[in-house]
Amino acid sequence: MKTIKTTLTCVLALCFAACTHSPAPADRSMEDRVESLLSQMTTDEKIGQMNQISPWGEPTQIAESVRRGEVGSILNVVDPVALNALQQVAVEESRLKIPLITGRDVIHGFKTIFPVPLGQAASFNPQLVEESARIAAIEASSMGVSWTFAPMIDIARDPRWGRMAESLGEDTYLTSVLGVAMIRGFQGNDLSNPSSIAACPKHFVGYGAAEGGRDYASTFIPERTLRNVYLPPFEASVKAGAATFMTSFNDNDGVPSTGNRFILDQVLRKEWGFDGFVVSDWASVAEMIAHGFSKDGKEAVEKAVNAGVDMEMVSGLYVGHIKELLKEGKISMAIIDNAVRRILRIKFRLGLFDRPYVDTAAPSVLYAPEHLQKAKEAAIQSAILLKNEGGILPLADKVRTIAVVGPMADAPHDQLGTWVFDGDKNYTRTPLKTLQEEYGDRIRILHAPGTAYSRDKQTSGLPAAVAIARQADVVLAFVGEEAILSGEAHSLANLDLQGAQGELIAAVAQTGTPVVTVVMAGRPLTIEREAAASQAVLYNFHPGTMGGPAIIDLLFGKAVPGGKLPVTFPRTSGQIPIYYSHNNTGRPWQGNETLLDGIPQEAGQTSPGNTSFYLDAGNDPLYPFGYGLSYTTFEYTNLSLSSARIKASDELSVTFDIANTGKRDAVEVAQLYVQDCFGSVTRPVKELKRFMRIPLKAGEKKTVSFTLPAEELAFYNINMEKTVEPGEFNLWVGTNSREGLQAKFVIE
Ligand code: BGC
Repeated sequence: MKTIKTTLTCVLALCFAACTHSPAPADRSMEDRVESLLSQMTTDEKIGQMNQISPWGEPTQIAESVRRGEVGSILNVVDPVALNALQQVAVEESRLKIPLITGRDVIHGFKTIFPVPLGQAASFNPQLVEESARIAAIEASSMGVSWTFAPMIDIARDPRWGRMAESLGEDTYLTSVLGVAMIRGFQGNDLSNPSSIAACPKHFVGYGAAEGGRDYASTFIPERTLRNVYLPPFEASVKAGAATFMTSFNDNDGVPSTGNRFILDQVLRKEWGFDGFVVSDWASVAEMIAHGFSKDGKEAVEKAVNAGVDMEMVSGLYVGHIKELLKEGKISMAIIDNAVRRILRIKFRLGLFDRPYVDTAAPSVLYAPEHLQKAKEAAIQSAILLKNEGGILPLADKVRTIAVVGPMADAPHDQLGTWVFDGDKNYTRTPLKTLQEEYGDRIRILHAPGTAYSRDKQTSGLPAAVAIARQADVVLAFVGEEAILSGEAHSLANLDLQGAQGELIAAVAQTGTPVVTVVMAGRPLTIEREAAASQAVLYNFHPGTMGGPAIIDLLFGKAVPGGKLPVTFPRTSGQIPIYYSHNNTGRPWQGNETLLDGIPQEAGQTSPGNTSFYLDAGNDPLYPFGYGLSYTTFEYTNLSLSSARIKASDELSVTFDIANTGKRDAVEVAQLYVQDCFGSVTRPVKELKRFMRIPLKAGEKKTVSFTLPAEELAFYNINMEKTVEPGEFNLWVGTNSREGLQAKFVIE
């Protein structure tokens, strides 16, 4: 039996080891260069550095603005020749020769598209996430991009919110670990390396808690929850050396983030010591007028600058108003100088002063074979097997005729997911094409999509799908969401499969041929009915360029699924918000309450159970956080703790055995959860504190050990102080947030 030991070598360790050193100590000579430059700048040139533009004007006008020093950054230009030309104007023709920093939303790949971040999160694999971001940086930087607006580390607990696709899921710890991994991938070991691009953790802060899941809506996150749940991934990003931050669109308890001095100045700069710069979100300074937080552009600028927003994205308001506000004494030159310092500092760290141009003669790295290979690996590790009745999967050797139905079987654009500005669908490999290419000579592959696209309500194609289902040994039903249904401003109230997809699955299932449902979507969908009608369900958050080969390898057993849900799946959207790490009520749901259909007429008032639950849906999710099956089975045994009583300064060592009790070699993501049973404030019923991917050969058993410093159990208490409170704790290790071995310990 093998033993795997983790101290801080486990996943989090990767992160927090990096996180424990503070941001790179400012290089003196670089700071001198910043100061020297700053001392030569006119007020207009300073304001210019704080101005980010998008290229919607005449190219010659843009060049002229750059020449006059009115622009610090440009976003959304990805033509390296055009960028070099603009950069040349900046560094050779402007008075102070300050290079532009060039931004782009490189969210889950540049040309080679990886699974959407929510999919990457399902891998629970920080190394893979880092490698994916590295490849994105290599490709993007080769086209002149020096700054990405990623990672998005908003805690996302509401799948109605379309931007959940861009998130790393509902959990604070998982998001912290994977967010740091992405930052490392983008920024590399050294920001000045030509293939490094500056990261921009976003959206600071609370954006994912949009009321009702409606994008841009208000949030109401009290300070304690902000500090315990929403801020930690951002703090970890600062410790990992993130170069920039982006504010969020939402107002939290009445204060838009772009005008929120508490979060930008007090928390980010004073408490965490962030020395990079903060950019607004797209026109979020101007949007403070629509919020009703500023009466006009001028007041919006006053609030944003004074709150600590260093660079303004696209509305041009800084250029229009800062000077006047300076004259009126409503903004101080010291604040402007600090903003400009931070922007120049990052430009120096990126090496832009020494290497402003992109090498247009270098051989192309776009869609390099190793990039595509890594994208396939990422798509494999991101897939989650939710159901596999009777071991219908893998299909290998079991089938002679396959019926392929559903609109996502051959949807090269849609399987890429949201935020794909640069990826080309012509490079996408779809499941249908892959199946035909790889198995077409051995297996009869029948194809009738049934519906043309996910929202298609037409049922005229269903009979053809049913006809091929009748002839087949198995139906592969590829359903889900088009890319346009998730992402920014794409919230949904109803999370059922769109269009006639539900009818399609019901119709093919009625033939009696077993159905394997493969979902590709940007969020959890409420697929209870479809899952019940299917023998197997393989869920993929939009898997990217190589989704097809990944899915086909999984279906045929060349690869074994090992992804775990980074977010809870509701049974119905009325259960939202539903997340595993909730606080308890005084009357917790017991699971034995009587639901609607079981309640007799004129039943006694309290007879169904007087607890906190939905009479119609109960409180159980369809699938819990951390859930995901494999083609093998795992058994957890022998949980032991180094001590049942520890001090707040101690480390707890948690040891257990895990065995692969099935017939396939596979990887299991072991998860460790803790509950602080009683506190000065109520605490979550469970919180993920460690996870580890454990490769196990069939029949193999390993001893696994996690080290958990008690200080990681600290939280913001009744006095808003971060403290480890003495008392009783529950601890679980297991295969998801619902199942596991349990132990108890006490902190003295
Ligand atoms: C989004 C940001 C994005 C920015 C620039 C905004 O609408 O909220 O996440 O980085 O646009 O494209």
